[in-house]
Amino acid sequence: MMDSNPNTEPQSENPTAANASASRRKRKMRRTLAGAAALSVGLTGAGILASALTPDAQVATAQRDDQALIQEGKDIYEVACITCHGTNLQGVPDRGPSLIGVGEGSVYFQVHSGRMPMMSNDAQAERKTPRYTEQQTLALAAYVAANGGGPELVYNDDGTIAMEELRGSSYDGKIHPEDIARGSELFRMNCASCHNFTGRGGALSSGKYAPPLDPANEQEIYQAMLTGPQNMPKFSERQLTHDEKADIIAFIKDAKESPSSGGWSVGGLGPVAEGLAMWIIGITALVGAAMWIGSRT
Ligand code: HEC
Ligand code: HEC
Repeated sequence: MMDSNPNTEPQSENPTAANASASRRKRKMRRTLAGAAALSVGLTGAGILASALTPDAQVATAQRDDQALIQEGKDIYEVACITCHGTNLQGVPDRGPSLIGVGEGSVYFQVHSGRMPMMSNDAQAERKTPRYTEQQTLALAAYVAANGGGPELVYNDDGTIAMEELRGSSYDGKIHPEDIARGSELFRMNCASCHNFTGRGGALSSGKYAPPLDPANEQEIYQAMLTGPQNMPKFSERQLTHDEKADIIAFIKDAKESPSSGGWSVGGLGPVAEGLAMWIIGITALVGAAMWIGSRT
């Protein structure tokens, strides 16, 4: 959640309470001490006051930063997105859908994967080299989120996914073989029908297709599940918990990094080798059947 960003952490001290306790302490001290001691008390009071005021100043800066980010996003939006998504994000008929309530997650997915800004009226937005930097992407996301909420990003300061938030307190920073095994099973049940069980993608109806998953980063995979781009369904917390989504991400990443261990393709050689394997299996079955029929006559 955005709350993990230290800049937006709510201030813990209440300046009024700190003030009151400071002057109470002052009065008590004055009765027992005099002269130089009073001076040091004054200094302590000033210190308390200063420490009570400092976080205040930081919060103000954080709010200004958020505002600056939203403004930066708005500026980019008005150049690159407005023609298709409208002046108030409400969408433009025959050009682009409304972005109200799609969430920062959807914007991150679409812009970070280079799908947006879209170039032409293709059946489907293609994955491309992204046009914007990480910071600009987060700015666009902040602008859209400020106008309607929706699925949130779970990210560290550097924009990478905050796995500990998906995994909970038991997370030890490592991926375990059983996570990948669970992820593989969940992928087979929830994703393979479209992305095929090797994650290499597949054709859907009317010129649309489910793309291969290798190029997507962890945040994109997570946000794809949350926001369901195009023909892909959304997977809510009820369908797949945070933890299960993390397992699926672990499986996809593992399969990408070690093609031969994850069962992605036969010998890691891709469709040709797979085709060959099917051919050999098919021929063997045919020969076997012929021999069986032959042995019966
Ligand atoms: C040429 C028109 C066009 C431009 C320019 C464009 N978009 Fe889009 N956008 C679309 C269309 C069409 C879709 C639906 C695409 C699909 O479902 O494959 C879409 C979908 C989206 C979605 C997904 C909405 C959802 O329901 O989750 C987001 C987010 C988005 N665009 C953001 C942007 C941003 C940000 C920009 C500017 C950087 C931008 N778009 C520029 C046409 C455009
Ligand atoms: C009904 C078919 C369908 C199912 C089921 C499905 N997807 Fe998708 N998926 C799609 C389509 C279609 C797209 C392309 C959307 C687009 O281009 O706008 C997509 C895109 C993606 C992408 C983006 C890849 C890229 O190139 O950036 C990821 C990641 C992804 N899916 C992951 C998953 C995961 C994980 C599951 C299972 C939890 C899943 N999908 C289930 C149809 C599906």
